[in-house]
Amino acid sequence: MDRLTTRPYEPRDEDGYYAVRSITYNDGLPIEREARDFRYSRPFVCEVAGEICGIYNVLDMTASRGEAILKCGGIASVAVLPHKRRLGIGRKMMDWSVQRLRDEGTPLSSLYAFREPFYRRSGFETVGKRLRITCPSHRLPKVKSDLGTRLLTPADWKLLVPCYKAYARKHSGLNVRTELFWNRVLNEHHPLAIYAVGDPIEAYAAVRHRVDFWEPQHVTEVVWSSLRGYEALMVVLAGLAINKTELSWYELSDSPFVTRFMDQGVSIELQRPIMYRVTDVPAALRQLKTQETGAFDLEVVDDLIPENCGPWHVGFSPSGVDVQPAKNADLTTDVRQLAQALLGEPSWRDLAANGFVVVKEDRALSAAEKLMPAMPATCLDFF
Ligand SMILES: CC(C)(COP(=O)(O)OP(=O)(O)OC[C@H]1O[C@@H](n2cnc3c(N)ncnc32)[C@H](O)[C@@H]1OP(=O)(O)O)[C@@H](O)C(=O)NCCC(=O)NCCS
Repeated sequence: MDRLTTRPYEPRDEDGYYAVRSITYNDGLPIEREARDFRYSRPFVCEVAGEICGIYNVLDMTASRGEAILKCGGIASVAVLPHKRRLGIGRKMMDWSVQRLRDEGTPLSSLYAFREPFYRRSGFETVGKRLRITCPSHRLPKVKSDLGTRLLTPADWKLLVPCYKAYARKHSGLNVRTELFWNRVLNEHHPLAIYAVGDPIEAYAAVRHRVDFWEPQHVTEVVWSSLRGYEALMVVLAGLAINKTELSWYELSDSPFVTRFMDQGVSIELQRPIMYRVTDVPAALRQLKTQETGAFDLEVVDDLIPENCGPWHVGFSPSGVDVQPAKNADLTTDVRQLAQALLGEPSWRDLAANGFVVVKEDRALSAAEKLMPAMPATCLDFF
């Protein structure tokens, strides 16, 4: 293949970039000037012999992990011209994007895959379990609640922040949103209606209402910071469902619905898994926060970024995480499994039980678990 260059988009790339985008993401139709908008993401192009053959964008987001918030580059809009596919361009572009994020100081990357094995080759792995709960209207739980409910608009996003942040401390991988990202989620294509319970807010549901009667209704986002908030939300959902056949929404592996409200006819499906990649192992570990003290030596298998491999001596305490080169490793794992363990699902213990972590010293596994405890993980932003 001719020389291939991946690089940030420049104004001179407009025609080439939008040609690839139009074919892949706009039914082959031209993309109007007003829709040519890089408010939420940074575009990149891949040139082969002077022709733009591939594109992708990066959303500068974050990923929650307990008290820590890590920078995370969300990769979106990946595309290669149809007649240039299966030549290795997509792979090279993704490998480059991972290295680029590392060089920019972003230790994590995330994406939603068209097919996971394609991105697994560049070191991404699915993290956590997003459950789509589909509940027939007449099977919604009958709960009582005294918490008041308010109807909010996207302009009220600041009122949701404490509830969302409390959720993000207990569920890792969440984008701790800036105003820009709140706007993207609540207001990008259609302003969502937000039903918020409690004051201060203890739970909310964001909905794109559909006019059709006796059709399914999806609830875009359901977030809670207390069980009584969650229960009050079930009352709101029952109201929403009154002229619909069924409601669907997402919860994570610690789903209160599965724990308390399962019923015949409700379906639970593992859906839209997000993939993460640790682009910079020592930087990601250093950004973690803990109230615990301990140490372990870790080796990482990473074919794409040898600088990630170590072995690393990881010492941690409430004053910070110190990562230094080490001679030997107590634990060895692949960079894909490290993304899972780092965010907490599957956990270090579950990965080790299935042989995904080679454990020389059990106390090292316990120490890694202390720094990175098991935790339900996902991302609530879609891109
Ligand atoms: C996905 C895409 C960017 C990959 O780019 P590419 O240059 O074709 O990728 P590569 O040549 O590096 O790798 C191709 C490999 O990906 C896999 N692959 C790519 N597209 C696939 C598809 N639609 N179905 C199954 N496998 C596919 C194949 O396994 C292939 O491996 P092979 O060479 O062993 O056969 C490109 O195919 C594309 O633009 N697809 C349409 C848009 C899209 O799906 N984007 C991804 C959004 S997450």
